[in-house]
Amino acid sequence: MMNTILLTGAAGYIASHTWLALQQAGYRVVGVDNFANSSPVVLERLAELAAAPIEFERADVSDAAALDAVFARYQPAAVVHFAAFKAVGESVAQPLAYYRNNLGGLVNTCETMQRHGCRRMVFSSSATVYGAPETLPLREDAPTSATNPYGATKLMGEQILRDLGVSDPAWQTACLRYFNPVGAHDSGRIGEDPRGTPNNLMPYVAQVAVGRREKLSVFGGDYPTPDGTGVRDYIHVTDLAEGHVAALNRLLGQPGSLTVNLGTGQGYSVLDLVRAYEMASGRPVPYEIVARRPGDVAACWADPSAAREQLGWTAKLDLARMCEDSWRWQQLNPLGFNPS
Ligand code: NAD
Ligand code: WQD
Repeated sequence: MMNTILLTGAAGYIASHTWLALQQAGYRVVGVDNFANSSPVVLERLAELAAAPIEFERADVSDAAALDAVFARYQPAAVVHFAAFKAVGESVAQPLAYYRNNLGGLVNTCETMQRHGCRRMVFSSSATVYGAPETLPLREDAPTSATNPYGATKLMGEQILRDLGVSDPAWQTACLRYFNPVGAHDSGRIGEDPRGTPNNLMPYVAQVAVGRREKLSVFGGDYPTPDGTGVRDYIHVTDLAEGHVAALNRLLGQPGSLTVNLGTGQGYSVLDLVRAYEMASGRPVPYEIVARRPGDVAACWADPSAAREQLGWTAKLDLARMCEDSWRWQQLNPLGFNPS
């Protein structure tokens, strides 16, 4: 029998790509989202790409009655919990909104799972749990810390799932620590559609290349890195989606829980990414070096070997491909999902 997987935050950037990967792998997928940071148009695009109707319920993951109804109807074997707010700066300004949504939503989802006898969860964690790295590459046993409320919600989210596993070994959880997800589906039909000014590098660069913004501000040119700009482990969202398939296969096939990095193990600087994007798009990306952004670290990249050993998963797509796919999405959808 086909296992049903519930995706929370299903209309979001990473979840929408994961939805397609799970369907391709033979899972039945049901999505819930309240569109706090996404558009219903995503669902039309997913139906078109899947060439089949998709199953979706509009709901807030903090709403116990709404989630109960979803569990009663679909009886999912596992949940992939993407639903959360994710803007670091906003979390500093509005910490309570982040604790309420990210932790209240997680606790309510887990309580609902308990009531329905579903005890397998894949959780969207983040490399942000490593705080300011002391040594690179980052292994999962590196020290963790939170430098902002958003990061604190990821650190506490992992702790909540560990505590659940101690309380009842029937709980099996996979905390996936994403590095820097970028790129888009190779169809160009779904991708990242930030509201307002993008906080993250690649969407900002994409909007400069397409002519929506004049130039990129490079946050800091004096870091102790080869070219002085910040270094990160960018990972194609399609590879990330496959990491979720591998994690679910593992949770449904074997006992036990896990915490793994999902990264490539390769670091690239801001200027490396700018050059790769210029190459992929054939457009110039003007930039100006400005002050460092508070809270940024100089460099951060993963040791991805635990995911290889425990999930049989490795990232396959390179920086050129990340930029090509981002550019296709950006060009075909210059104003995102809702051009009006
Ligand atoms: P996203 O904002 O595109 O997706 C999150 C989705 O959750 C959105 O569709 C939003 O509407 C929905 N949502 C938020 N609160 C909800 C609620 N209470 N009820 C129902 N739906 C709700 O973000 P994303 O980049 O796809 O991130 C997905 C997950 O991965 C998040 O948990 C995020 O913290 C985590 N993550 C993201 C990154 C990144 O750089 N994109 C890195 C590490 C971890
Ligand atoms: C990448 C590099 C910037 C924008 C964030 C969150 C992290 C995780 C992923 C969720 C850095 C530089 C950026 C710009 C720039 N999210 N930059 N100009 O900061 O590594 O990680 O997203 O879990 O928690 O903190 O990603 O894309 O914002 O920045 O120069 O306009 O690009 O300084 O070196 P970051 P990013």
